[in-house]
Amino acid sequence: MSGLTRTSLSHVALRTPDVEAMAAHYGRHMGLVRHDESTTDHVYLGFGEGHHSLELIKGTAGLAHVAFEVGDEGGPERVGERLRDRGVEVREVGDQLEVTDPDGNVLRWHGAISRTGEFTRGSGRRPLRVQHATFSTHDMEPMVEFYLGLGFRISDRMGEVFTWLRSTVEHHSVAIVQGATPNGLDHYSWDLAEWEDFKTWADRLTDNGVPIQWGPGRHGPGGNLFLFYDDPDGNHIELSAEMERYFDERAEYQPRVWEAAPTTVNLWGGQVPSWRTA
Ligand SMILES: [Fe+2]
Repeated sequence: MSGLTRTSLSHVALRTPDVEAMAAHYGRHMGLVRHDESTTDHVYLGFGEGHHSLELIKGTAGLAHVAFEVGDEGGPERVGERLRDRGVEVREVGDQLEVTDPDGNVLRWHGAISRTGEFTRGSGRRPLRVQHATFSTHDMEPMVEFYLGLGFRISDRMGEVFTWLRSTVEHHSVAIVQGATPNGLDHYSWDLAEWEDFKTWADRLTDNGVPIQWGPGRHGPGGNLFLFYDDPDGNHIELSAEMERYFDERAEYQPRVWEAAPTTVNLWGGQVPSWRTA
């Protein structure tokens, strides 16, 4: 099998005009704590141990980068070679490689990290880890070609509107949606452990005056449960669980093509998120 099978999202970096307000929000809702390397204008948030999950960088609100931990043979260097072979500029940033996709989204690639702070429940219900990023585009095919070139594989498509791409056993670590919104981050997600967590989260968000924007529901493609809300800058956050997994290293998998309908993206009902219909 060529391509990526053990490469997962490791962290998301957001620019924000108010680092403190965003750090406080993520601390209150997710239990994320500030890591030691943080400064006033550049805060690293994680679960107290291991690698950070979120960076907040002072600036105009928007995506700074998403980063991937490459567990596949050859590590980030192999990813870099693939891209250079295709004429893509690869930059070195510290011990990470950095590339820009056709829409201008910045991606970073690094080797194995400590995830000690993740995957444990600790006290209270918190996300297990950051899981996927979905990009909004106005030109789907060059984006899909780029991610295929990186080694991602297509799990599902929904007409010309949505493409879900995987780089681990999970149905998607990146997705691309033909956007009603400007190019860039449509949303990013955090994994919850189980359905029971959604009730706790819905109550917690309500108690804290944070409106739920979409869901709870279940996606057709990926089959995952979901609930969406916005952080203080209006970044759309998805809480997700039960994502479909592929054990297809000895099988020839053909991507499914789903009907482009609201009930494809939410099996439970016809509504679509407000920002995609604006
Ligand atoms: Fe998603």
